[in-house]
Amino acid sequence: MESDSGNTLMPRIGDKAPDFEAVTTTGKIRLSDYAKDKWLILFSHPADFTPVCTTEMSGFAQRKQEFNNLNTELLGLSIDSVHAHLGWVNNVRKNTGVYFDFPIIADIDMKVSKLYGMLQPNESETAAVRAVFFIDPKKIIRLIMYYPLNVGRNMNEILRALEALQTADKYKVALPLDWQKGDKVIIPPPKTLQEMENRLVQKDIELVDFYLAKTSLN
Ligand code: BEZ
Repeated sequence: MESDSGNTLMPRIGDKAPDFEAVTTTGKIRLSDYAKDKWLILFSHPADFTPVCTTEMSGFAQRKQEFNNLNTELLGLSIDSVHAHLGWVNNVRKNTGVYFDFPIIADIDMKVSKLYGMLQPNESETAAVRAVFFIDPKKIIRLIMYYPLNVGRNMNEILRALEALQTADKYKVALPLDWQKGDKVIIPPPKTLQEMENRLVQKDIELVDFYLAKTSLN
């Protein structure tokens, strides 16, 4: 279904990631077959050969190993041809030595951009905004970021959010403001009177009140 902005209805947290087939710098990719059993960071940038995008794409490339260590693959996208992508990849490698060795979608027909609400016409009618979709191994969208054309993203925050999602899943906990790996985590609040009474006398936790209690994972 299309909205008046031309995007299909924007995907939301908890939705199955819309499937697509696309040409990329590493060949054709079908989302449902890509990064099987892994997390995926699908991210868009407005245009090749532009300054902010070059810093961001270099950031993803330089920290790719940290994503891979979190069982996560990268998949970039912009509304440029694969030839433009290849030229840019080669140009950045020549100028800085940084190599974008993960697939970048050439979304020249805007199909994927529209499917993921990356085309936001009041910001730009021809370039994708800076979107980041965190997609889990079941291909469920777990977190979405949208940034405008003139503000670069924060790679530390992207990695922190990814690790937070994985930690929340693994330990069935929630993560407080500014949580970083190694910090205490939030235990789910009690759901019954009995659970509340138990929580109030629990010794091995940091208890603010029955609904806010923290524990260490180690
Ligand atoms: C940039 O990456 O610097 C950029 C791209 C598109 C529009 C504005 C800035």
